[in-house]
Amino acid sequence: MKIVEIENLTYSYDGKKNVLKNVSFSIESGKYISVIGHNGSGKSTLARLLIGLLRPKGGSIKAFGMEYTKENILKIRSRIGIVFQNPDNQFIGSTVQDDIAFGLENRCVPQDKMQGIIDEVSTMVDMKEYLTKEPETLSGGQKQRVAIAGVLALSPDLIIFDEATAMLDPKGKREINETIAKMRKNNPELTLISITHDIEEAFNSDEIVVLSKGEVFDIGTPAELLNKAQELTSIGLDQPFLYKLKQSLKSKGIDVSDAANIEELVNKLC
Ligand SMILES: Nc1ncnc2c1ncn2[C@@H]1O[C@H](COP(=O)(O)OP(=O)(O)O)[C@@H](O)[C@H]1O
Ligand SMILES: [Mg+2]
Repeated sequence: MKIVEIENLTYSYDGKKNVLKNVSFSIESGKYISVIGHNGSGKSTLARLLIGLLRPKGGSIKAFGMEYTKENILKIRSRIGIVFQNPDNQFIGSTVQDDIAFGLENRCVPQDKMQGIIDEVSTMVDMKEYLTKEPETLSGGQKQRVAIAGVLALSPDLIIFDEATAMLDPKGKREINETIAKMRKNNPELTLISITHDIEEAFNSDEIVVLSKGEVFDIGTPAELLNKAQELTSIGLDQPFLYKLKQSLKSKGIDVSDAANIEELVNKLC
């Protein structure tokens, strides 16, 4: 089932310059999609359109089979969770427990049900033993995991990460990527959109949508895009580590060009 259907989507903030131009792609339920692109390529604008904060100027978006009409918008929003870039800006509670409870209180979830949900989602993000801790005592990665727990508590069908790891150190990034893998294993129906300019992170997903200056530059699996690494450089993106490694090995006379990921490459080398 298609969770998101975007057709010829166009958006302009000022009515003159289109920051998204004829963007079309769709996402099947349970998929993990990355949207990558240079700064200013329109990624966050796309996220705002997906959660219904902005209205398209042209084309259309559907989520869960619903058009973004006035009647549907709250229904659509209630099924989407979003995790933003800055771990400090999204921590609302005075403790981890309060922070996760915030969204549940807004939805009027009864007190007796709340604790079970908080325990479940804090376990999922490995933060259960931090429930009584205050935000100042947490690392960036831990704060982002609490933000993810707050989103998971509301049982969304789709979660959007808008540069959620951009402000984290390598350890924090790794923690979030491990949490994502765990969430997917626990709920194979959960659909994820990760907006990022980190090409390595995008390579963990099922499919990558490459945006450049508001247009879809390419769409493909990580393996498909690996063969187009030169083109990614032309729009200001880094080359994937796997590609750089293959090129470097090739220059030393070792051809492992058919390895689709690091594990395969290591196996071939062995
Ligand atoms: N609130 C806004 N008002 C006017 N222009 C904006 C606003 N937000 C973003 N833009 C412009 O829209 C373009 C796309 O921005 P954005 O979607 O934030 O890109 P990205 O998330 O890929 O960095 C940029 O040129 C940016 O300057
Ligand atoms: Mg952005």
